[in-house]
Amino acid sequence: MVSSKFVAALGALLSTPLAFAQYYPAGNATSTNAANPTGTGSPSAAQTVSVGVDSTGAAALVFTPDTIHANPGEEITFQFFPKNHSVVQADFNNPCNPSDNGIFSGFIPSSSGPADQVFTIKVKEDKPVWLYCAALKPAPHCAAGMVAVINPPKSGPNTLDAFRAAAKKTTTSTAPNTPNGGEVEKPSPSGTATGGPAQHTGAASNLVVSAGAVGGFMAAFAALLL
Ligand SMILES: *[C@@H]1O[C@H](CO)[C@@H](O)[C@H](O)[C@H]1NC(C)=O
Ligand SMILES: *[C@@H]1O[C@H](CO)[C@@H](O)[C@H](O)[C@H]1NC(C)=O
Repeated sequence: MVSSKFVAALGALLSTPLAFAQYYPAGNATSTNAANPTGTGSPSAAQTVSVGVDSTGAAALVFTPDTIHANPGEEITFQFFPKNHSVVQADFNNPCNPSDNGIFSGFIPSSSGPADQVFTIKVKEDKPVWLYCAALKPAPHCAAGMVAVINPPKSGPNTLDAFRAAAKKTTTSTAPNTPNGGEVEKPSPSGTATGGPAQHTGAASNLVVSAGAVGGFMAAFAALLL
C-alpha cells in the first residue's frame, strides 16, 4: 500500500516537478522539500544555527555558528533563543540593513529556551549570504556584532570580521516588513536539535494542510524516507 502510493507519488513528482513551486508560500529562496520531489537523493540533514546563544548555550548576541558552509540545495534551520531575535540578509557593504528581496525570518521572540518557531532556508547557490539580527533592544544587535555568513568568500577582503567591524560602526538597523526567503514553522516535536528527517516530516504535514492531495503524496513519500 505504501509502495503503491510511493510509486504514484514518485510518478507525480517526476512528471511535474515544477508544479511544486506553487505550493510554497515563501517565494523562490526556499522550497523546503525540493530536493526530495526529484527522487534523486535522500534528505540531507539540515544544519542548525542557534540565534542568541553562544556555543556554551549562554545568552549572547551571536549566531552559533557564525560561519556556515552549505551546498546549494542544503537546508539551514535557525533556532531562536531569548529574548527576541531575527535573521536578515544584508549586502556586504551595508551590514545592518536588508538586501533587496533578501532573507528575513521575522522577529521571533522566546521567553526561555528555544522559541516555538524555527526558520528554515534552502541554500540556493554557492555565493556568500551575509546575515544580521535586526532586533534593537536593549541595544541594536547588529551594532553589537550579531552577524553571520553562509559560504564566505574563500579569499579577498570580504571576510566575516570585516563585515562585523562595519556592523559595529552602525548605530541602528532596519528590517523588512514581512518574512521572506524561507519557512517559519514549528520545530518538529521529535526534536529540534538535529533537524534531518523530522524536519522533512514537519514540512510534509504543512503541505497536507496547504495543498491537499499533493500533500498526501508528499506525506507518503516522506514516510518512505523515514
Ligand atoms: C521569484 O522569481 C521571480 C522571477 O525571477 C520574481 O519575479 C519574483 O519576484 C520572485 N519572488 C520571490 C518571492 O522571490
Ligand atoms: C522584537 O524586536 C523588534 C525590533 O526591535 C520589535 O519590533 C518587536 O516588537 C519585538 N518583539 C517582541 C515580542 O519583543
